[in-house]
Amino acid sequence: MPDPVITAAASQITTCRANGHVPVIRTFFDNPTFTATHVVHDPATRSAAIIDSVMDYDPASGKTDHDLAQEIVDYIAAEKLKVEWVLETHVHADHLSAAPWLQERVGGRLGIGDAILRVQDIFGKLFNAGTRFARDGSQFDELFHDGARFTLGSLPAIALHVPGHTPADMAYIIGDAAFIGDTLFMPDYGTARADFPGGDARTLYHSIRRLLSLPDETRVFLCHDYMAPGRDEYAWETTIGAERRGNIHVHDGVDESTFVQMRTARDATLSLPNLIMPSVQVNMRGGNLPEPEDNGVSYIKIPVSKS
Ligand SMILES: [Fe+2]
Repeated sequence: MPDPVITAAASQITTCRANGHVPVIRTFFDNPTFTATHVVHDPATRSAAIIDSVMDYDPASGKTDHDLAQEIVDYIAAEKLKVEWVLETHVHADHLSAAPWLQERVGGRLGIGDAILRVQDIFGKLFNAGTRFARDGSQFDELFHDGARFTLGSLPAIALHVPGHTPADMAYIIGDAAFIGDTLFMPDYGTARADFPGGDARTLYHSIRRLLSLPDETRVFLCHDYMAPGRDEYAWETTIGAERRGNIHVHDGVDESTFVQMRTARDATLSLPNLIMPSVQVNMRGGNLPEPEDNGVSYIKIPVSKS
Protein backbone atom coordinates (compact mmCIF):
# COMPACT_ATOMS: atom_id res chain seq x y z
CA MET A 1 0.00 0.00 0.00
CA PRO A 2 1.46 3.43 -0.87
CA ASP A 3 2.50 5.52 2.12
CA PRO A 4 0.85 8.93 1.59
CA VAL A 5 3.37 10.79 3.76
CA ILE A 6 6.33 9.33 1.88
CA THR A 7 4.59 10.05 -1.44
CA ALA A 8 4.12 13.70 -0.41
CA ALA A 9 7.72 13.97 0.82
CA ALA A 10 9.06 12.39 -2.38
CA SER A 11 7.11 14.79 -4.55
CA GLN A 12 8.39 17.76 -2.50
CA ILE A 13 12.00 16.57 -2.89
CA THR A 14 11.67 15.98 -6.65
CA THR A 15 9.96 19.32 -7.29
CA CYS A 16 12.44 21.29 -5.20
CA ARG A 17 15.40 19.68 -6.97
CA ALA A 18 13.87 20.26 -10.42
CA ASN A 19 13.35 23.97 -9.63
CA GLY A 20 16.65 24.49 -7.83
CA HIS A 21 14.52 25.53 -4.85
CA VAL A 22 16.84 24.04 -2.27
CA PRO A 23 18.14 25.08 1.16
CA VAL A 24 21.69 26.05 2.10
CA ILE A 25 23.08 23.95 4.95
CA ARG A 26 26.00 24.68 7.26
CA THR A 27 26.98 22.07 9.83
CA PHE A 28 28.67 22.59 13.20
CA PHE A 29 30.23 19.41 14.58
CA ASP A 30 30.60 18.88 18.33
CA ASN A 31 33.66 16.66 18.78
CA PRO A 32 33.06 15.62 22.42
CA THR A 33 29.65 14.11 21.59
CA PHE A 34 30.09 13.47 17.84
CA THR A 35 26.95 15.50 17.15
CA ALA A 36 26.25 17.41 13.94
CA THR A 37 24.12 20.55 14.39
CA HIS A 38 22.71 21.73 11.08
CA VAL A 39 21.76 25.32 10.31
CA VAL A 40 19.47 25.23 7.29
CA HIS A 41 18.33 28.33 5.45
CA ASP A 42 16.23 29.43 2.53
CA PRO A 43 18.48 31.63 0.36
CA ALA A 44 15.43 33.52 -1.00
CA THR A 45 14.11 34.75 2.38
CA ARG A 46 17.07 34.04 4.74
CA SER A 47 14.68 32.14 7.04
CA ALA A 48 16.61 29.54 9.02
CA ALA A 49 16.20 26.48 11.22
CA ILE A 50 18.68 25.10 13.74
CA ILE A 51 18.47 21.32 14.05
CA ASP A 52 19.83 19.37 17.05
CA SER A 53 21.93 21.94 18.89
CA VAL A 54 24.45 21.10 21.62
CA MET A 55 25.25 22.61 25.02
CA ASP A 56 28.52 21.21 26.28
CA TYR A 57 28.49 19.82 29.81
CA ASP A 58 31.19 18.61 32.17
CA PRO A 59 29.66 15.80 34.24
CA ALA A 60 32.31 16.05 36.98
CA SER A 61 31.66 19.71 37.83
CA GLY A 62 28.15 20.17 36.42
CA LYS A 63 29.44 23.16 34.42
CA THR A 64 27.81 23.99 31.09
CA ASP A 65 29.36 25.89 28.20
CA HIS A 66 28.01 27.34 25.00
CA ASP A 67 31.08 27.76 22.79
CA LEU A 68 29.62 25.85 19.85
CA ALA A 69 26.17 27.40 20.27
CA GLN A 70 27.86 30.83 20.28
CA GLU A 71 29.54 29.97 16.95
CA ILE A 72 26.06 29.31 15.58
CA VAL A 73 24.78 32.64 16.91
CA ASP A 74 27.76 34.39 15.25
CA TYR A 75 27.12 32.57 11.94
CA ILE A 76 23.44 33.56 12.02
CA ALA A 77 24.38 37.22 12.60
CA ALA A 78 27.08 37.19 9.88
CA GLU A 79 24.72 35.61 7.34
CA LYS A 80 21.82 37.85 8.42
CA LEU A 81 19.53 34.86 8.94
CA LYS A 82 16.11 34.97 10.63
CA VAL A 83 15.62 31.92 12.78
CA GLU A 84 12.10 30.54 12.42
CA TRP A 85 12.63 27.10 13.91
CA VAL A 86 14.76 25.39 16.51
CA LEU A 87 14.11 21.68 15.90
CA GLU A 88 14.97 18.53 17.81
CA THR A 89 14.83 15.20 16.03
CA HIS A 90 14.37 13.46 19.42
CA VAL A 91 15.19 13.50 23.13
CA HIS A 92 18.93 12.88 22.83
CA ALA A 93 20.65 10.65 25.35
CA ASP A 94 24.23 11.63 24.56
CA HIS A 95 24.28 15.42 24.62
CA LEU A 96 22.37 18.31 26.15
CA SER A 97 20.37 20.57 23.84
CA ALA A 98 21.19 24.27 23.66
CA ALA A 99 17.69 25.06 22.32
CA PRO A 100 16.45 27.44 25.07
CA TRP A 101 19.82 29.25 25.16
CA LEU A 102 19.66 29.71 21.37
CA GLN A 103 16.00 30.76 21.40
CA GLU A 104 16.83 33.54 23.87
CA ARG A 105 19.47 34.91 21.50
CA VAL A 106 18.09 34.29 18.03
CA GLY A 107 14.40 33.39 18.50
CA GLY A 108 12.59 30.59 16.66
CA ARG A 109 9.87 28.14 17.63
CA LEU A 110 11.01 24.95 19.37
CA GLY A 111 9.65 21.83 17.69
CA ILE A 112 9.79 18.08 18.35
CA GLY A 113 7.59 15.04 17.56
CA ASP A 114 4.23 14.65 19.31
CA ALA A 115 5.27 11.24 20.68
CA ILE A 116 7.44 13.23 23.13
CA LEU A 117 4.58 12.73 25.62
CA ARG A 118 5.43 9.03 25.72
CA VAL A 119 9.13 9.76 26.24
CA GLN A 120 8.30 12.27 28.99
CA ASP A 121 6.15 9.64 30.67
CA ILE A 122 8.87 6.95 30.51
CA PHE A 123 11.69 9.19 31.76
CA GLY A 124 9.47 11.14 34.16
CA LYS A 125 8.81 7.84 35.98
CA LEU A 126 12.41 6.61 35.68
CA PHE A 127 13.74 9.81 37.29
CA ASN A 128 10.78 10.19 39.68
CA ALA A 129 10.46 13.73 38.36
CA GLY A 130 7.33 14.62 40.37
CA THR A 131 4.40 16.83 39.52
CA ARG A 132 6.47 19.92 38.68
CA PHE A 133 7.60 18.16 35.51
CA ALA A 134 4.73 18.53 33.02
CA ARG A 135 4.45 15.50 30.72
CA ASP A 136 2.28 17.17 28.11
CA GLY A 137 4.92 18.53 25.71
CA SER A 138 4.25 22.08 26.94
CA GLN A 139 8.01 22.80 27.09
CA PHE A 140 7.91 22.91 23.26
CA ASP A 141 6.19 25.37 20.91
CA GLU A 142 5.24 22.83 18.24
CA LEU A 143 4.58 19.08 18.41
CA PHE A 144 4.77 17.56 14.91
CA HIS A 145 2.75 14.53 13.87
CA ASP A 146 3.72 12.21 11.03
CA GLY A 147 3.06 14.06 7.79
CA ALA A 148 2.78 17.54 9.37
CA ARG A 149 3.54 20.26 6.83
CA PHE A 150 5.41 23.42 7.72
CA THR A 151 7.53 25.97 5.90
CA LEU A 152 10.98 27.51 6.16
CA GLY A 153 10.58 30.88 4.44
CA SER A 154 9.55 29.96 0.88
CA LEU A 155 10.64 26.31 1.21
CA PRO A 156 8.10 23.55 1.86
CA ALA A 157 8.83 21.13 4.70
CA ILE A 158 7.29 17.97 6.07
CA ALA A 159 7.81 16.05 9.32
CA LEU A 160 8.11 12.25 9.40
CA HIS A 161 7.70 10.10 12.50
CA VAL A 162 10.59 7.60 12.43
CA PRO A 163 10.54 5.79 15.80
CA GLY A 164 12.78 2.92 16.88
CA HIS A 165 15.84 4.56 18.43
CA THR A 166 13.30 6.25 20.74
CA PRO A 167 9.50 6.31 20.44
CA ALA A 168 9.46 9.96 19.36
CA ASP A 169 12.16 10.27 16.68
CA MET A 170 11.36 12.60 13.81
CA ALA A 171 12.93 13.30 10.43
CA TYR A 172 12.44 16.77 8.96
CA ILE A 173 12.43 17.16 5.20
CA ILE A 174 13.08 20.74 4.16
CA GLY A 175 13.11 21.30 0.39
CA ASP A 176 15.24 18.39 -0.92
CA ALA A 177 17.17 17.80 2.31
CA ALA A 178 16.24 15.17 4.90
CA PHE A 179 17.44 15.62 8.50
CA ILE A 180 17.00 12.11 9.77
CA GLY A 181 18.25 12.24 13.37
CA ASP A 182 19.30 8.89 14.83
CA THR A 183 18.07 6.33 12.30
CA LEU A 184 20.73 5.78 9.66
CA PHE A 185 24.32 6.87 10.09
CA MET A 186 26.88 7.11 7.27
CA PRO A 187 26.71 4.01 5.04
CA ASP A 188 30.04 2.73 6.42
CA TYR A 189 28.86 3.04 10.04
CA GLY A 190 25.33 1.67 9.81
CA THR A 191 22.40 2.54 12.07
CA ALA A 192 21.44 3.96 15.46
CA ARG A 193 21.05 1.77 18.54
CA ALA A 194 17.56 0.72 19.54
CA ASP A 195 18.01 -0.37 23.16
CA PHE A 196 17.12 2.77 25.13
CA PRO A 197 13.85 2.74 27.11
CA GLY A 198 11.03 2.74 24.54
CA GLY A 199 13.42 1.85 21.68
CA ASP A 200 12.76 -1.13 19.38
CA ALA A 201 14.88 -2.63 16.58
CA ARG A 202 11.89 -3.88 14.57
CA THR A 203 10.29 -0.44 14.68
CA LEU A 204 13.61 1.14 13.67
CA TYR A 205 13.83 -1.19 10.65
CA HIS A 206 10.38 -0.05 9.45
CA SER A 207 11.24 3.63 9.94
CA ILE A 208 14.47 3.15 8.00
CA ARG A 209 12.69 1.36 5.14
CA ARG A 210 10.31 4.33 4.94
CA LEU A 211 13.26 6.72 4.68
CA LEU A 212 14.93 4.51 2.09
CA SER A 213 11.86 4.75 -0.13
CA LEU A 214 12.47 8.48 -0.65
CA PRO A 215 14.11 9.43 -3.99
CA ASP A 216 17.73 8.31 -4.37
CA GLU A 217 18.92 11.87 -4.90
CA THR A 218 17.50 13.11 -1.55
CA ARG A 219 20.27 14.84 0.38
CA VAL A 220 20.55 13.21 3.80
CA PHE A 221 21.98 14.91 6.91
CA LEU A 222 22.82 12.87 10.00
CA CYS A 223 22.76 13.72 13.70
CA HIS A 224 26.03 11.91 14.48
CA ASP A 225 29.17 10.51 12.98
CA TYR A 226 31.61 8.26 14.81
CA MET A 227 34.14 8.03 11.94
CA ALA A 228 34.10 4.42 10.80
CA PRO A 229 37.46 2.64 10.63
CA GLY A 230 39.28 3.50 7.41
CA ARG A 231 38.14 7.12 7.35
CA ASP A 232 40.10 10.04 8.77
CA GLU A 233 37.39 12.71 8.65
CA TYR A 234 33.97 13.10 10.17
CA ALA A 235 31.11 13.10 7.66
CA TRP A 236 27.43 13.92 8.09
CA GLU A 237 26.01 14.18 4.57
CA THR A 238 25.04 11.37 2.22
CA THR A 239 22.10 10.47 -0.04
CA ILE A 240 19.25 7.98 0.09
CA GLY A 241 20.76 6.21 -2.95
CA ALA A 242 24.13 5.77 -1.20
CA GLU A 243 22.38 4.42 1.91
CA ARG A 244 20.23 2.01 -0.09
CA ARG A 245 23.23 0.66 -1.96
CA GLY A 246 25.85 0.62 0.73
CA ASN A 247 24.62 0.91 4.33
CA ILE A 248 26.45 -1.87 6.14
CA HIS A 249 23.47 -2.73 8.38
CA VAL A 250 20.47 -2.12 6.19
CA HIS A 251 21.27 -1.82 2.49
CA ASP A 252 18.65 -3.10 0.03
CA GLY A 253 18.19 -6.83 0.49
CA VAL A 254 18.65 -6.93 4.29
CA ASP A 255 15.39 -8.28 5.68
CA GLU A 256 13.72 -7.39 8.95
CA SER A 257 14.76 -10.44 10.97
CA THR A 258 18.41 -10.23 9.85
CA PHE A 259 18.48 -6.55 10.83
CA VAL A 260 16.76 -7.12 14.18
CA GLN A 261 19.16 -9.94 15.07
CA MET A 262 22.22 -7.88 14.14
CA ARG A 263 20.95 -4.73 15.90
CA THR A 264 19.99 -6.56 19.09
CA ALA A 265 23.33 -8.42 19.28
CA ARG A 266 25.28 -5.23 18.66
CA ASP A 267 23.28 -3.18 21.18
CA ALA A 268 24.05 -5.77 23.87
CA THR A 269 27.76 -4.88 23.50
CA LEU A 270 27.34 -1.09 23.77
CA SER A 271 27.86 0.82 27.00
CA LEU A 272 25.58 3.72 27.92
CA PRO A 273 26.58 7.17 26.61
CA ASN A 274 28.65 9.17 29.16
CA LEU A 275 26.10 11.96 29.33
CA ILE A 276 22.90 9.89 29.37
CA MET A 277 21.78 10.96 32.87
CA PRO A 278 22.07 14.73 32.42
CA SER A 279 21.06 14.60 28.74
CA VAL A 280 17.75 12.86 29.27
CA GLN A 281 16.77 14.93 32.31
CA VAL A 282 17.49 18.19 30.48
CA ASN A 283 16.24 17.24 27.02
CA MET A 284 12.91 15.81 28.22
CA ARG A 285 12.35 19.38 29.55
CA GLY A 286 13.02 20.94 26.14
CA GLY A 287 16.68 21.67 27.03
CA ASN A 288 15.86 23.32 30.37
CA LEU A 289 17.60 22.30 33.58
CA PRO A 290 15.43 20.48 36.14
CA GLU A 291 13.24 22.75 38.26
CA PRO A 292 15.51 24.43 40.89
CA GLU A 293 15.28 23.19 44.48
CA ASP A 294 14.48 25.57 47.38
CA ASN A 295 18.07 26.91 47.36
CA GLY A 296 17.65 28.00 43.74
CA VAL A 297 19.99 25.31 42.36
CA SER A 298 19.10 22.62 39.77
CA TYR A 299 20.33 19.07 40.34
CA ILE A 300 20.74 16.07 38.06
CA LYS A 301 19.60 12.77 39.61
CA ILE A 302 21.24 9.37 39.17
CA PRO A 303 19.18 6.28 40.00
CA VAL A 304 21.43 3.90 41.94
CA SER A 305 21.39 0.12 41.46
CA LYS A 306 18.42 0.26 39.14
CA SER A 307 18.46 -2.30 36.37
FE1 LIG B 1 19.98 9.90 19.92
